[in-house]
This record gives sequence, structure tokens and C-alpha cells, in this order.
Amino acid sequence: MSKNSLQNNLWNHRKDYSVDEIDFEHIPQNPYELFDIWYKKAEEQMKGSSETNAMSVSTADKDGNVSSRIVLLKEYSNEGFVFFTNYLSRKAKNISHNNKVALLFFWEIMQQQIRIEGVIEKISIEKSKEYFDSRPAESRASALASPQSEVIQSVKKLKEDRDKILKSNRLDYPDFWGGYIVKPTAIEFWQGRPSRLHNRLKYVKDNGEWRVEILAP
Ligand SMILES: Cc1cc2nc3c(=O)[nH]c(=O)nc-3n(C[C@H](O)[C@H](O)[C@H](O)COP(=O)(O)O)c2cc1C
Repeated sequence: MSKNSLQNNLWNHRKDYSVDEIDFEHIPQNPYELFDIWYKKAEEQMKGSSETNAMSVSTADKDGNVSSRIVLLKEYSNEGFVFFTNYLSRKAKNISHNNKVALLFFWEIMQQQIRIEGVIEKISIEKSKEYFDSRPAESRASALASPQSEVIQSVKKLKEDRDKILKSNRLDYPDFWGGYIVKPTAIEFWQGRPSRLHNRLKYVKDNGEWRVEILAP
């Protein structure tokens, strides 16, 4: 193999799944209830070792180019799923053209995946400010100093800018930063099962009501 050609064959890298199964006879009426049950169990199992609230957010730009990144889920309720970010970032620019997004959780220890599709909107400035003000000073200074997704001169310069802001103690809430809420139109729960006969339960919002589907793995 030449130096420039790299190949790693993972064909024999496989695992069988058996830690849990979906009880299709007793399905909660609404997906938030099931999300809450799965989330709390995952959090319990993953305590200290991982970030249960890390999720992938996929967005598409106006030409349909899709990009994904991890963010931290900061709140969930019957209304939807909230995360915080820079409103001038690449993801925010995508969202301003296309408000349809997808979220994804993978909890390896639980052998579970949750896929969420929906529409996204900004949360209120008041709530964004409240959360911003609750963050440690260093995090606030970093958010203020970082032009997220822009090309920067150097990490050194960014750190200097951050330190300058921190020293000045001017850590006021900036209007270019805040929360988004994803309001789901579909949520799919996936539970790994032996021999690839996995369980898939999908809730789809239909005229304001949640309809349930069982999908083939
Ligand atoms: C574990 C983890 C947590 C992260 N949490 C956030 C977050 O809550 N908000 C955020 O804006 N970026 C977060 N990031 C950084 C994003 O993945 C991404 O680099 C950043 O938001 C810029 O994305 P964009 O250029 O596509 O807009 C996190 C990254 C990781 C790996």
C-alpha cells in the first residue's frame, strides 16, 4: 500500500445487541413520555462517563447541502428540544434558509438511537439571556469573543480576545447568541436487538395527533 493510500477494513467489526427491547404492547401515547423514560435511564447508566445530552443536529443550506454537528441538549419538554448556539454560525445561516432540521442521539451503552425530525425556531430573547447569564464567566467570555464558524487568524489571538473580554468584565448578553427549539414532526426510537432484528418505533405527528408506526429494521 502506498503512503497516500489508506484503507481500514472493518468487515469483521460487529457486535450483537441484547440489553433491552421495546414493549410494543405498552407504548406511551406521546413520544415525549418515551423520550423522558429513555433519557433518564441512559443518564443513569452513563453517569460520569459520557454526555447523554450530546446530540447531532443536521441542517441544510439553501442549495440542499447538508451538514451535521454535535450540540448539547439543554432542555426538553412537550414543546420540543432546546439547544444554544451562535445565531451567526453556519448552522444558524442554514436554519435561516431552511427551518427543517434533524436531531440524533446515540447511546451506545443502551444500544439505542433516537431520531428526531422537525422544524426549528429561536426561543425568546428573555430565556436566552437568562441561560447566558447563568453560564460561568469564562464560557460567556468565550461566546462573546468567538465568531463561531468564521475563519480566524489564530487560536492565540482568539484567546487574547477572550481574556480581554474576561478582564473587562463586560459580559453582557449578546444578541448574536441564543437558543433554538426543535418542534418535532416525527420521533423514532431504535433499540438494538440480536441478529439485526432491531426494534423501531416511530411517532409521526398527524393533524396535531401522534400516530405510531412499527418499522422494519
Ligand atoms: C460534545 C460537544 C458539545 C458541543 N456543544 C455545542 C453547543 O451546545 N452549542 C454549539 O454551538 N456548539 C457546540 N459544539 C460545537 C459544534 O459541534 C460546532 O463545532 C459548532 O456549533 C459550529 O458549528 P457550525 O459551524 O456548523 O455552525 C459542541 C461540540 C461537541 C463535540
